[in-house]
Amino acid sequence: MEMTFIMVKPDGVERGLVGNIISRFEQKGLKLRGARLMRIDRSLAEQHYGEHRDKPFFGELVDFITKDVVFAMVWEGPEAVALARSLIGKTNPAEAAPGTIRGDLACDVASNLVHGSDSVESAVREIELFFGKLSTNLAS
Ligand code: TYD
Ligand code: MG
Repeated sequence: MEMTFIMVKPDGVERGLVGNIISRFEQKGLKLRGARLMRIDRSLAEQHYGEHRDKPFFGELVDFITKDVVFAMVWEGPEAVALARSLIGKTNPAEAAPGTIRGDLACDVASNLVHGSDSVESAVREIELFFGKLSTNLAS
């Protein structure tokens, strides 16, 4: 079984879309293994999005993700990482297919509602980053 890190970003919490987003993962058959409503500080945001440090949008991305609470989750299932990415849809909502979260519910790349790990390695790193010791329990 594989685990992936999923986070409803501040725009999704603000718009009241947490339940809608959770439903999609539940309906697909993934299992919810952890969840946490939390505020991300700049240090955590910069670590989480470290791969984008040199991109022109990095500052705005960190501002955006730290501006209000997020809903962080761990979901488990066979090929959970790839499966969750396909439910979420492409990064730019204009390119995300209808039926995906971003395709159905978002229209701006900067506020695209949800984060999902892009690989098993990223998932392990992100679960540890956001859930710390809980991730040890999750793995058992
Ligand atoms: P990225 O990891 O490329 O996308 P994804 O969330 O699909 O894994 O980028 C991280 C976030 O950065 C993305 O969800 C939204 C933001 N972003 C922008 O604001 N502008 C951009 O041009 C890109 C590529 C991303
Ligand atoms: Mg990414």
